[in-house]
Amino acid sequence: MKEHRLGIIMNGVTGRMGSNQHLMRAIAAIRNEGGLAIRPGEVILPDPVLIGRNPDKLAALSRLSGVETVATEIAAYLDNDAYPVYFDAQVTGLRSEALEQAIRAGKHIYCEKPTATDTETAMRLYRACRDNGLKHGVVQDKLWLPGLIKLKRLVENGFFGDILSVQIEFGYWIFEGHTIPAQRPSWNYRGETHGGIILDMMPHIRCVLDNLIAPVRQVFCHKATHIPERIDENGQRYRCDVEDAAYLLFQLENDISGRVTCSWTERVRREDLLTVKVDGTRGSAQAGLHECYLQHYGQTPRPVWDPERASAGSYRDQWGRVPDQEDYPNPFRAQWTHFLRHVVLNEPFPWNLREGAKGVQLAEAAMLSCKLGKWVAVEELEV
Ligand SMILES: NC(=O)c1ccc[n+]([C@@H]2O[C@H](COP(=O)([O-])OP(=O)(O)OC[C@H]3O[C@@H](n4cnc5c(N)ncnc54)[C@H](O)[C@@H]3O)[C@@H](O)[C@H]2O)c1
Repeated sequence: MKEHRLGIIMNGVTGRMGSNQHLMRAIAAIRNEGGLAIRPGEVILPDPVLIGRNPDKLAALSRLSGVETVATEIAAYLDNDAYPVYFDAQVTGLRSEALEQAIRAGKHIYCEKPTATDTETAMRLYRACRDNGLKHGVVQDKLWLPGLIKLKRLVENGFFGDILSVQIEFGYWIFEGHTIPAQRPSWNYRGETHGGIILDMMPHIRCVLDNLIAPVRQVFCHKATHIPERIDENGQRYRCDVEDAAYLLFQLENDISGRVTCSWTERVRREDLLTVKVDGTRGSAQAGLHECYLQHYGQTPRPVWDPERASAGSYRDQWGRVPDQEDYPNPFRAQWTHFLRHVVLNEPFPWNLREGAKGVQLAEAAMLSCKLGKWVAVEELEV
């Protein structure tokens, strides 16, 4: 068996995303299967070092994942050529400085979104990788959600005719922590730690709209901090000084209209935590994380408004379900697989730091729209 060992510095793996998705479901899963098969008798074997601040958490994660190399200091690994890749899933506010350090050390970069907290820095990171011949990528996991893959196939097969509009709903109730513990870390609700749902969610929204529907051209945003006080991990009250909900309108290329809600303060009464609905001249579809439902022109009901009688059947029953037509691996693992192949085999990897910068750019444009109370253009980023 020919083995391409690939040393990866994994920083921020004790966090929610780092441990559950990137380490356990992607890298450790690939290692436990003996590596990523690339040709008969040939595998890529990711060989990570887990970097964190807390030795106890690192030891527990090491036991759980089977990864033996852990460290609380990163410097020695940045100097070590046996680790050519740097991965970052730290809190958002620490990302750009950590990436800059890794780029200076000549590492290939793969990281969580957002890649930075402002577009200028995000583009600087992109250019630094490009100019130094380093490979680079940003996590865009939503593109590999089974429901969204099904939706993408419908677009590719011309199901919709002309796409008219898209509606994205994301959100669920994040407990405040006074009685029931919060299920997201407190840094998300504070400005000084670069929290707020706009910076968190716009990278996802941009990549879904740009890749599945059409490029974003303009945005209009209203934001709100609905819950002003929460309880942190130490049981302390704190003031929430960033938005926990955003209500947005979009104009996309080809005159497509978009309507997006992102909220940590709503209760779900729809198919899933995230739904993407597309209406077109020939048909409509709505995707959730796993499922996708469709209604063709030929199945479209002709409702008649009647305030005196409840409608006979459910409108939902008039939709068909898209069956599973292919394999759907864990989305984080799917993208890691592409990145590993990109580094070792030089295969294309379009989800690069320029795409990451586009997500940050949309967050900035949405914030500016809130401030001005106006539509804001989302211009082409200069390279
Ligand atoms: N792709 C996705 O779907 C998705 C979902 C959620 C979060 N994220 C992104 O992943 C990143 C991490 O989010 P998370 O929810 O896993 O956060 P988390 O708080 O659970 O984890 C943060 C990590 O950063 C580390 N860290 C280092 N220095 C720190 C400090 N001074 N304070 C706090 N933590 C510090 C922590 O040890 C931990 O490993 C964020 O940038 C977030 O935007 C992505």
